[in-house]
Amino acid sequence: MENTAENKKIVLSAIQPTGTPTLGNYLGALKNWKKMSAENDCIYAVADLHSLTVRPEPQQLRRRTLDMYAILLALGLDPEKNIVFVQSHVPQHSQLAWILNCCTQFGEASRMTQFKDKSEKHPENVNVGLFTYPVLMAADILLYQADYVPIGEDQKQHLEITRDIAERFNTVYGETFKLPEPYIGKAGARVMSLQDPRQKMSKSDPNPKGFISMLDDDSVILKKIKSAVTDSEAKVRYAEGKDGINNLMAIYSCCTGKSYEETEKEFDGKGYGDFKAAVAEAVIEELRPFKEEFARLTADKAYLLECMTAGAEKAAHRAQRTLNKAMKKSGLFML
Ligand code: TYM
Repeated sequence: MENTAENKKIVLSAIQPTGTPTLGNYLGALKNWKKMSAENDCIYAVADLHSLTVRPEPQQLRRRTLDMYAILLALGLDPEKNIVFVQSHVPQHSQLAWILNCCTQFGEASRMTQFKDKSEKHPENVNVGLFTYPVLMAADILLYQADYVPIGEDQKQHLEITRDIAERFNTVYGETFKLPEPYIGKAGARVMSLQDPRQKMSKSDPNPKGFISMLDDDSVILKKIKSAVTDSEAKVRYAEGKDGINNLMAIYSCCTGKSYEETEKEFDGKGYGDFKAAVAEAVIEELRPFKEEFARLTADKAYLLECMTAGAEKAAHRAQRTLNKAMKKSGLFML
């Protein structure tokens, strides 16, 4: 994915402001956002409209949106070189989502596993927003004509429906949207819960020992990794049936760059205690610069608001070009 300055690839991704991101969000997505930002034309959003589907408490949503914005800048994203913005500040997202709703079949939206999971988990609030969630996500991506979308494994199906929707629109109305590719890292694409390694690590896990938050104190990180569920073999090796150890090895590999073979050699003859201590140390070191930068940025709200405003303006300018094209092609009467 090497690019020349004139021919940069467009990268778009977003994250919901539903709480402090976990190590899963970081290793699965955010670390790649940062990695890709040096060489590509990157556009990153706080997906606050998506998080309305779970009806968060309004004050909390507002606070978490600003915090998530600070978290993105604290990754080291340069708001001058990249576009970092809040989704609801750019109304073109909701506008294109409506047009795309009319190009999405009820049946294909019903097949989304995230919709099925969420409706089963929260039968008291199966709202239509939850159903059309992937269509808004398609609008986020297609508005910017993105080439790549860095995401974790759990969002892959949403990328597939995005491509299907784009293809359908292009077929019906003529070439309008670029078909985006997912960018999913090898290790870290699906970081699992530390307490139940068959479930993905999630910030909504009621058991806080299951996930590491990006802002956890060092001592908390150490404690959580030490109490991670493993197995009785007491041998550090990547193998089927060793879900807990496989997960820790993936985390270790993402933070140190070491392959599974190197890790197996490093811990040959050593127990899980030594391995867990090394994993914790690697995670702590990986998150240290981010935590320091986050503390610095949250103390400067004026700067954050300035970046947020500039980000929204830049994003809206880009988004409007595609929206105009889609409106014109679909026959809406333009003034
Ligand atoms: P969200 O907010 O749930 O998660 C943000 C990113 O983190 C990844 N992720 C994980 N990766 C590895 N292991 C895990 N345990 C793990 N948990 C989460 C997710 O795959 C995601 O990449 N619908 C999206 C937000 C969104 C979006 C978009 C993404 C809205 N519009 C346009 C891409 C493009 C979501 O809910 O992510």
